[in-house]
Amino acid sequence: MSHSYPEHVTIVDVSPRDGLQNESMTVPTAIKQALIEDLIAAGIKKLEATSFVSPKWVPQMGDNSELMTALADTRRDDVIYSVLVPNMRGFDNAIVHNPDEIVIFGSASETFSQKNINCSIDESIERFAPVAAAALDAGIKVRGVISCTVGCPYEGEIDPSQVAYVTKRMVEIGAEQIGIADTIGVGTPIKVQRALQAALEHIAIESITGHFHDTYGQALSNTLAALQLGVSEFDTSVAGLGGCPYAKGATGNVATEDVVYMLHGMGISTGIDLDKLVVAGERISEFLGRRNDSNVARAIINKRQS
Ligand code: HMG
Ligand code: MG
Repeated sequence: MSHSYPEHVTIVDVSPRDGLQNESMTVPTAIKQALIEDLIAAGIKKLEATSFVSPKWVPQMGDNSELMTALADTRRDDVIYSVLVPNMRGFDNAIVHNPDEIVIFGSASETFSQKNINCSIDESIERFAPVAAAALDAGIKVRGVISCTVGCPYEGEIDPSQVAYVTKRMVEIGAEQIGIADTIGVGTPIKVQRALQAALEHIAIESITGHFHDTYGQALSNTLAALQLGVSEFDTSVAGLGGCPYAKGATGNVATEDVVYMLHGMGISTGIDLDKLVVAGERISEFLGRRNDSNVARAIINKRQS
């Protein structure tokens, strides 16, 4: 079987948002800002800075406005700063900070939708519709991310038809890109391809992105499986940070370092400097007192030390 891989892949580093939202310790705004600046110094051109969700639900993102204000002085025109927005309240709070992109986030699992955003799938679309319309009106990009596209912590396996349904609804309300998320990292390559193919019924491959958590160690394989279908944008997290407070047991996203190493090894460009990326991952891991969860970062550091 031969595949034609994309020549360039866009990496969306989600560590400031997905990576830190699940941390038990409070991460100071200045540390988040330093992480974002380190990522940009490494060549990251698109990142999820924060989320404008309820601070009662996710206290770790409660400094969303402070962080966006702190970033304002050094914002770069060539970097896309994305923020998650669950409803109009979040949009109103976000818009004053001129985000480049807003992310509406739904679920292919009815139960996860209830647990994560306190409403059904159909209700979530009703809430997202005015958000997407207002963002497009203001010239802001709109991406939709769908959680639990292969498996759900509450419902188990998810049928691809659910992914097709939510993709269709999100595209109808204006989502320009659709992210296919394996929230709890249970997916394996063929299942992930089935979820992607379901989304493909309603949106072109160029507009589909992958978001794979690595709980079962499958995320890099799933990334390759998505690349083989032609997906060319991935959400990844430096040092493999990440998790969702409403998906217990889920660990981090696939590590940005691991994806970049794989892509560069395949001759696919990312514009990212791997050594600088390793520095970014080491700094935040040290601050959090966590082992760096990127295999590539650990290998590079060990080699340097020996
Ligand atoms: P709710 O309680 O149903 O909302 O929460 P509500 O409208 O009834 O409001 C309740 C209170 O929250 C009110 O305050 C609102 O003002 C306030 P009170 O009157 O009690 O003082 N409120 C807000 N405050 C700030 N910003 C807002 C906002 N909205 C309401 N935007 C809601 C519904 C969606 C707000 C809540 O469920 C929520 O915030 N959920 C967020 C959950 C979350 O952030 N999960 C993690 C991100 S998703 C993820 O990680 C998955 C992803 O990575 C992909 C994958 O891996 O699958 C993207
Ligand atoms: Mg996630």
